[in-house]
Parts: sequence; C-alpha cells; structure tokens
Amino acid sequence: MDVLRERYLTAIAAAPDEVALEDLRVRAIGRKGEVSLRMRELGRMTPDERKVAGPKLNALKEEITSALAARKAALEDASLDERLKAEWLDVTLPARSRSAGTVHPVSQVTEEVTAVFADMGFTVAEGPQVESDWHNFDALNIPAEHPTRTEMDTFYMSHAADQTDPPHVLRTHTSPVQIRAMNRFGAPLRVICPGRVYRADYDQTHTPMFHQIEGLAVDVDISMANLKWCLEEFCRAFFEVDQVELRFRASHFPFTEPSAEVDLRCSWEDGRLKVGEGDSWMEILGSGMVHPKVLKAGGIDPDKWQGFAFGIGIDRLAMLKYGMPDLRAFFDGDLRWLKHYGFAALDVPGLHGGLSRPA
Ligand code: DAH
Repeated sequence: MDVLRERYLTAIAAAPDEVALEDLRVRAIGRKGEVSLRMRELGRMTPDERKVAGPKLNALKEEITSALAARKAALEDASLDERLKAEWLDVTLPARSRSAGTVHPVSQVTEEVTAVFADMGFTVAEGPQVESDWHNFDALNIPAEHPTRTEMDTFYMSHAADQTDPPHVLRTHTSPVQIRAMNRFGAPLRVICPGRVYRADYDQTHTPMFHQIEGLAVDVDISMANLKWCLEEFCRAFFEVDQVELRFRASHFPFTEPSAEVDLRCSWEDGRLKVGEGDSWMEILGSGMVHPKVLKAGGIDPDKWQGFAFGIGIDRLAMLKYGMPDLRAFFDGDLRWLKHYGFAALDVPGLHGGLSRPA
C-alpha cells in the first residue's frame, strides 16, 4: 500500500495538465482503479485483516482524492496567471484615435444650447414637424389673412378635398411647440424646444429645412428683465466668453407683446467672429413677452400668468460660432466637410467639461 501511495502522490504532484490528472484519477480510484480493486478485496479478508486494511485503504483513497484536488487547483491558478499575463492591458494608455464618423455641427450646437438652458432649469419639449395649421399659425395669433403666413413661404400638405381633416403644414418655426407644451404641462413652465423647421427658401444663408430652438418661460411676475438676464447668460455660456453685450431692438411678432429682436456685439477679424467686442451687431434671435391670446390658446389664464419666449436659429449660431460661411454645405452630406467641421462623438457638451472641443 505504501508503494501504491508513493507512486500516485508523486505522479499527481508532477501531472502536467488536467488530462493527465484525470488519467491518474481513473487509474487510482476509478471504478477499476488500483485502490478500488484493493477495496473490493476487503470482502475476502478475515474480519481481523479487514479491520487493519479497511481504514488504511479509506485513508489512502482520501489522500489521493485531496492530492488530485490540490493539483487541479494549482493547475487552474497557473493557467489563470498565464492568461492574465497574456491578456494584459494598459488601461492608462490613451484611447485609439477616433473613428471616421463625426457629430454634425447642427447636432453639436443643439446639444450645447440644450446644456446651457438645462442648467437654468429648462426641460426639453418636442412637437411634430407636420403641424396643424392651427398650432403653427392661429394659436400663435396669426390669423388666416395675416401677412406672416405668406412671408414665411409655407409648405402646405395636401389634404382631403372634402376638408374633413384640418389643414396641415410643414411647421415654419418651433413656436407651435409652445402651444403644445402649455396645453400639456400647464403653468408654471420652462421649456426649450429644438427641432427642424421648413420654409420655401434657398440661398447662401437659407435652406428649405433648417433648425430652431424655441424657449418659453411662464410664471407669475415674469418680465423682460428675466428674459434679458436669461439670454445674456445663455450667450456668455454658449460663445464661451466672459463679456457679452446684447442690444434689444423693438420689433414685431404676432405672438409676443412687446417684441424685441436681439443683437450681439461682435467684430469680424480675418473672417472670424469675436463676440463681446467691436463695433458690429449681429442679429441672433427674436423674443418678447408672450401675447395673452397665445397663453389662452395654450390653456393658461393670462390674468394670472405671464411669460417670455424666444426663438433662435440653430444653424445660424453654428455658422457664427464655428465660422462656417455657407449654410447649404450643412446639408450636402459631403464627407470632407463633415470631417472638417464635425465633432468627436464622445465629447458630450456640458457646462462642467466645456461646451465645445474640436474633433
Ligand atoms: N418664430 C419666430 C420665427 O421663426 C421666432 C420667434 C420670435 C420666436 C419671437 C419667439 C419669439 O418665441 O418670441 O421667426
């Protein structure tokens, strides 16, 4: 038995892999293994012989079993060590250079604007691009005969000859989302509504589809002063400069009273825009105090609540901030342009990490 013990324990300790180990297990304690066969012989022994041999054989079987388990664990440890060495990875290495795709400047600027207003407590609301004529015009105090309807070069959807369905248009601005947001959420309210809008227009600074972002804040005692602060904060954050100067120019929109167009002080140097200095003024948005009729169309009592609203052209902001001269190129899908003006996909704009970083 000692010979048996010596032989197997030595072999097990030296087994090179799990296959060899399994082979040893079968040969020692498998059904027809050497130890098992000896155990079967116990029956033929005298009771005295059995009393001596029985415990010894059991002990041997146990010893071999635990030697097998120990060797198996050692082999597993060794192979894990080897794998760890082979699959070693330096997580402090810089990431691979970015892949071919980039984020379009319009998406980038939309994210930037959203990040700034989200920080001021605005949430994002959306509406349909095929919009009812009522939301796009009537609810915004633009009656059927109003000149704005033709000024906006509206795309009308064809509709049933029997006039059962209400007329629809491709929305000409994001302002109808004001109505939808008021009806859905009521007052008080702070929303921004980014999205695509459509007008039949095409030249260096106009494309039939472009992007706007609408802002709406409804509360008690809200005034032009709140609007001004809000827009100044926005420009400071968006253009990433400490000093901005805005000029509010009296204007007219049917959905606001009073209305103002807002210009930004700037200068052009070597074809690049500098914000906050210089003698030029650049118009960047339309705004005003929401007209009582508009609040009413949104289901809000104008005797209790008031609000300000503004509408900004996203594409125009992108052109200004990133110096892109021709709007039409935005929508050509030219890979060379996208590569040049695009943004890295993983640089999500946020006020903490910085709004913009070149790709
Ligand atoms: N909807 C206007 C446009 O497309 C922009 C605008 C002006 C929106 C004044 C507003 C606003 O909310 O108050 O030209």
